[in-house]
Amino acid sequence: MDVVIRNANLADGRRGVDIAVEHGRIAAIGPALPLAGAREIDADGDLVSAPFVDAHFHMDATLSYGLPRVNASGTLLEGIALWGELKPDLTQQALIGRALQYCDWAVARGLLAIRSHVDVCDDRLLAVEALLEVKRLVAPYLDLQLVAFPQDGVLRSPTALANLKRAIAMGVDVVGGIPHFERTMADGAESVRILCEFAAEQGLRVDMHCDESDDPHSRHIETLAYESNRLGLHGRVTGSHLTSMHSMDNYYVSKLLPLIREGGVAAIANPLINITLQGRHDSYPKRRGMTRVPEMLAAGIDVAFGHDCVMDPWYSLGSGDMLEVAQMGLHVAQMTGQDAMRACFEAVTTTPARILGLEGYGIAVGNHADLVLLDAADPVEAIRLRAARQLVMRRGAVIAESPRAHARLNLPGRPEQVNFRLNR
Ligand code: FE2
Repeated sequence: MDVVIRNANLADGRRGVDIAVEHGRIAAIGPALPLAGAREIDADGDLVSAPFVDAHFHMDATLSYGLPRVNASGTLLEGIALWGELKPDLTQQALIGRALQYCDWAVARGLLAIRSHVDVCDDRLLAVEALLEVKRLVAPYLDLQLVAFPQDGVLRSPTALANLKRAIAMGVDVVGGIPHFERTMADGAESVRILCEFAAEQGLRVDMHCDESDDPHSRHIETLAYESNRLGLHGRVTGSHLTSMHSMDNYYVSKLLPLIREGGVAAIANPLINITLQGRHDSYPKRRGMTRVPEMLAAGIDVAFGHDCVMDPWYSLGSGDMLEVAQMGLHVAQMTGQDAMRACFEAVTTTPARILGLEGYGIAVGNHADLVLLDAADPVEAIRLRAARQLVMRRGAVIAESPRAHARLNLPGRPEQVNFRLNR
């Protein structure tokens, strides 16, 4: 064997197993495997997980915080306006440089697959060209899936639809949209129909920014689920954000959730962004604004947590750490039960992997030897500690290592020095 990892816990609850790796794939999993590895790694009872997956990101905007100025109000609409100011000054070289830097951050934190939206409302399609180049450059170590995203509205912006089709022809993977940003509800619904029909024709996946507002009457997710059903797109359609669902009438939601399930539509909440941008116009009490995560999970709908933004016009924080995203999602959705906390870990690993359609993903024999050794015993502890990624493996090669978190205390009145693994 090329590598054998000893005494690992797995996210599905198995404890103390060995994982053998050969030719970039997982060759065997089991207790005390009688196999020798050219490299032996002692997991020492720590968690080995499949890599983190971010199903919703904006890599064309990332790490641009402060360019050309900061978002003074911190609101979504000022963020969109600020992005509009920045766009004419973007250069391919700067875009590629920032995206590659972010991918380095991601890899260090065990994040090895990202679905990124890329704005197609600039007629030069500069960001599309740049991110296609980034996708090619990072392919050996990170799966980057791109969504053609008409930020200014596919009907509202005169060249957006043609640009979106050009971007798809250039190699962008997924059809995006933003129905709530079109001029009327009717235009929003029409944009969903046009884009889903285009995706069906082309055999592509769909991922729309959908109902990202606190308006309980923003119901484009209903149209998206209906079109997915009508066009047979089950399993290939995602509604991102869906924050208006937080404020909808409960009776209406009781009809909506089965429709989403029947349409085979997945949902992506973006907890860090939703909790900072939604409810901004409320007095007290303020709504949280995140979509109804536990209710959708209970209805059998796939729900992932996305990062959405890191240091860009919309969000000045973030670091590519999907455990931070999971931790915020857990708190905002009040998912503190044992099963619910484990579901939050799945929302940044297996569920987004399914949404992206990743091939050979997961800790199972025959899959790619892509994995992360965390400084935690199980998924709940990983979220609690935002555990260090001791080791990140891609196709059987160790591509990142970080030390365990240790503390050394010299306390007044305590003669002995205290050493321990931080908070364990
Ligand atoms: Fe987004």
